[in-house]
Amino acid sequence: MTWVWKLPTPLIPLHWRGSLSVGCLIPPTKHEFPQAPKNHFTFAPAFTIIYSMIRLADHWKDFAVLCTGDGYKLERWGQALLLRPDPQVIWAAQRDLFSYPGLSAVYHRSEKGGGGWEFRTPLPESWTVGYGELTFKVKPMGFKHTGLFPEQAVNWERTGAIIRAAVQKGRTPKVLNLFAYTGGATVAMAKAGASVVHVDAAKGMVERAGENARLSGIGSGIRYIVDDCKKFVLRELRRGNRYDGIVMDPPSYGRGPNGEMWKIEEEIYPFVKLCAELLSDEPLFFLINSYTTGLQPTVLENILALALGGRKGTYEAYEVGLPTGEGIALPCGAGGMYYV
Ligand SMILES: C[S@@+](CC[C@H](N)C(=O)[O-])C[C@H]1O[C@@H](n2cnc3c(N)ncnc32)[C@H](O)[C@@H]1O
Repeated sequence: MTWVWKLPTPLIPLHWRGSLSVGCLIPPTKHEFPQAPKNHFTFAPAFTIIYSMIRLADHWKDFAVLCTGDGYKLERWGQALLLRPDPQVIWAAQRDLFSYPGLSAVYHRSEKGGGGWEFRTPLPESWTVGYGELTFKVKPMGFKHTGLFPEQAVNWERTGAIIRAAVQKGRTPKVLNLFAYTGGATVAMAKAGASVVHVDAAKGMVERAGENARLSGIGSGIRYIVDDCKKFVLRELRRGNRYDGIVMDPPSYGRGPNGEMWKIEEEIYPFVKLCAELLSDEPLFFLINSYTTGLQPTVLENILALALGGRKGTYEAYEVGLPTGEGIALPCGAGGMYYV
């Protein structure tokens, strides 16, 4: 049994824009509702609200996904048009992406692993893109990366709003960003008023995070740590340091600076349980993002709910995605969040 109630868009917070459906026990499916809205709210027994939705990063001006298909996505990064592989894109392209007018560069996968960029037009070595009051350096790098995950804007807005509300109440939230890469979340949370500890194993990425902070006009309030995340968390626990918010974006596989192995399926639950001990007495949030294929949003929500030992608050699961010029959503990963 399912019913749908559509709320007018202006009633919905901006980062959940789109239509909203309220289901009873069973969420509406695409099969039952061919025009099913993207956001599904399901009421479960005991009036727990479970969110299951795709959140689209749809406030970008300097970035857009133009079209997708045949394993590729064509994106605009500032003035540059980049064509990159995307394993989620298993549908057919609606036009020839490789002959798109003005295409700047294509990333080709190599059969031996890795791959490389083919430049079609001259590009600067790097350039910047803006997101609201944030500025990030991007450049075509190895592993098809540009140094920024634009879909993460949904998480920047979410944590930013919570931090700003706490700042208005006179707090300076202390937050920890683990597997923090080039600092998208770090910069967004620092700009919102948090004091941030940024941890990543790759020195080059941590340096890029510092550069992004400077570009965004942030001169202080961020501590940069090049270390294995697990080692750092254990040290913080021993030192008695605590955090009001934790964000983590662990890779499927990874290595710490001294070769420490990380395999998400084996490590994530005990690691989240360990991190839960770092939460302060008045925590604000704990957010997990994952790009690991097959790792459903509800898995992240379950991990949080169990590892946090049923701490009072709201637990939610959501898909993260990007709008495309074709009117479809490009799924980019999963999010699980606990907040008070
Ligand atoms: C998927 S990226 C994170 C993306 C980032 N959250 C963002 O939105 O910009 C994963 C990062 O984890 C780091 N990493 C992998 N294994 C690690 C480990 N054991 N300890 C610390 N960092 C690690 C990598 O260097 C990489 O920067």
